[in-house]
Amino acid sequence: MLESNNIQKQLHGKDLLSLHRLTSEEILEILKVAGELKEQQKKGVPHPILQGKTLGMIFAKSSTRTRVSFEVGMYQLGGNALFLSSNDIQLGRGETIADTAKVLSRYLDGIMIRTFAQSDVEELAEHASIPVINGLTDLLHPCQVLADLQTILEHKGRLKGLKLAYVGDGNNMAHSLMFGSAKVGMDIIVASPKGYQPNQEIVKLARQDAEATGVKVEIVEDPAEAVTGADVVVTDVWASMGQEAEQAQRVKDFAGYQINNKLMSLAKPDYIFLHCLPAHRGEEVAAEVIDGPHSVIFDEAENRLYAQKAVMALLM
Ligand code: CP
Ligand code: NVA
Repeated sequence: MLESNNIQKQLHGKDLLSLHRLTSEEILEILKVAGELKEQQKKGVPHPILQGKTLGMIFAKSSTRTRVSFEVGMYQLGGNALFLSSNDIQLGRGETIADTAKVLSRYLDGIMIRTFAQSDVEELAEHASIPVINGLTDLLHPCQVLADLQTILEHKGRLKGLKLAYVGDGNNMAHSLMFGSAKVGMDIIVASPKGYQPNQEIVKLARQDAEATGVKVEIVEDPAEAVTGADVVVTDVWASMGQEAEQAQRVKDFAGYQINNKLMSLAKPDYIFLHCLPAHRGEEVAAEVIDGPHSVIFDEAENRLYAQKAVMALLM
């Protein structure tokens, strides 16, 4: 793998801040390489593409999957990963993002950052001379959606022409799914209650992407309308990291938005269910669905590893 083609050359040195900033071809290339790297790993074929390279991983929020998959991915690529809790580095004591970016660029070959404000990630990337990868912000979660697309492709054999329904909070996952779906040619319909619908600016940008691929990005309130005839059904927690104080209110406001077998009787008979995890069974999804035969959540979690290995191999 990785005989350099033009798209691969184009990706080298880039940041991954938002799927909106990648071309459809770049996203499909990442998915192709992810599939190749998965096959190599399963066959036990070594692929030390990033030997001698180091990824710094800044975390201002908790993580299981992102931390472990980036760290293991870097190890499998022959490189190293450094866990940098934002509380333990000087960034947490007020050192500027610009200085942090410039200093880390002298030691590292790439930075993954999980934090609150998307603008902080953009600022880090602006001042870093090495690739910056968005490992989740309040606004976006692009690495997760690359893994989601890889999982859909594996289970459905294609992306183009499918209908993806997202039911729940119009959050970082909803936003990145809108970009990802629009870029690869899947219709996406998001059902959220009033007051929790996706960011209007993101909807506008995703619709621009969708125009280029000839698909639809729809926002509705009715979950039944969204899931009817869907090939892929996705949800996420009702209260994201940083919104813990709103949990009780959100449980009330999202009543009727639970993914359960009754709602899923409207989806295609062979629908697949995705959730980025962590999940709250009995809230956004019933155990009968997330632990049932349509659920592909652990394939999805596993694919974080391969999608991100592809991102690191291509960017770094
Ligand atoms: N889905 C996801 O990003 O999980 P973590 O918060 O565990 O990294
Ligand atoms: N929307 C969730 C995703 C967690 C991976 C959050 O931001 O907490």
